[in-house]
Amino acid sequence: MFEEEEERIVNPELKETEEVLEKSLRPQFLAQYIGQPKVKAELSIYIQAAKAREEALDHVLLYGPPGLGKTTMAFVIANEMEVNLRQTSGPAIEKPGDLIAVLNELNPGDVLFIDEIHRLPRAAEELLYSAMEDFYVDIMVGQGPTSHPVHFPLPPFTLVGATTRAGMLSAPLRDRFGIISHMEYYTDEDLQEIVERSADIFQVEIVSEGAYELARRSRGTPRIANRLLKRVRDFAQVEADGVVNREIADRALSLLQVDNEGLDYVDQKLLKTLIEMYNGGPVGLSTLAVNIAEETETVEDMYEPYLIQKGFIKRTQRGRMATEKTYEHFGYAYPIENV
Ligand SMILES: Nc1ncnc2c1ncn2[C@@H]1O[C@H](COP(=O)(O)OP(=O)(O)OP(=O)(O)O)[C@@H](O)[C@H]1O
Ligand SMILES: [Mg+2]
Repeated sequence: MFEEEEERIVNPELKETEEVLEKSLRPQFLAQYIGQPKVKAELSIYIQAAKAREEALDHVLLYGPPGLGKTTMAFVIANEMEVNLRQTSGPAIEKPGDLIAVLNELNPGDVLFIDEIHRLPRAAEELLYSAMEDFYVDIMVGQGPTSHPVHFPLPPFTLVGATTRAGMLSAPLRDRFGIISHMEYYTDEDLQEIVERSADIFQVEIVSEGAYELARRSRGTPRIANRLLKRVRDFAQVEADGVVNREIADRALSLLQVDNEGLDYVDQKLLKTLIEMYNGGPVGLSTLAVNIAEETETVEDMYEPYLIQKGFIKRTQRGRMATEKTYEHFGYAYPIENV
């Protein structure tokens, strides 16, 4: 109900400026792209080499949890290569014809960005094999006895695919990417820099302790950091003359149910369920997901990787387990038999 209300009072002009802001938050070139040093260093070399040879860049697969900057990086690659980017996604392509239509629009050297590439239908994926390898597709034209294959050459192009899990790609597709880049969670220091840059764009006054507090509690994820910054900005405006300091950041984050370790409401629910209902596990991921009313895939892609990295969940052969750190964090005694 509250959301409906919010929808109605949204001023369309305001919404537009929000979208412009969102776009301006995206770094355009490698030099502005904060963090991901390994990915940047590799890509920078391949891009320079491809440009020197006046060739299309090899196909790039970007994988990692949501909100870490895969889409941003796809645009950065196109900008650095000085080519156009065409964007589509796995779910948007329902039949091979949809993919042909996109391929047909490519100019030499262009970047074709396919988000959620693991969700491409099988028939479309198979078309990509020859498109990626030898820049052509063979398509069947006509129906019944008059149907015949037509050879359709393509300009050299760069496919940039994004996925949350490389393991969900079929081997033949994965093998056709020359460059496979794993995006990692950002360090607190890199996220602080991102928060300070975004604050600058939003024209929010923020002191470095405030930026650090926000960064530290953003699950290593720029999208979350930017989203929290917007909410904290509102707090600062109402309660502290607009300046975001550590105390304001802390108060706002606590009200947003982001705890001191940066765990959000769903993280907390998941971990508490693991302890309170399953004695700390082991328990299967899908069982856990049902208990907190989330999709298994969402838990696996968005929540679990961070909780594992931070040492709140352990993966075992028999399922997921809470760690001693988890028990401590929520103020429970660690079961003696686990020690
Ligand atoms: N290195 C970075 N420096 C500054 N801002 C960044 C950086 N990476 C991402 N962002 C910001 O974080 C937000 C999310 O980035 P992006 O949409 O590229 O993530 P994504 O990995 O494509 O997410 P998803 O998997 O959900 O599609 C964007 O608003 C972007 O501006
Ligand atoms: Mg994206």
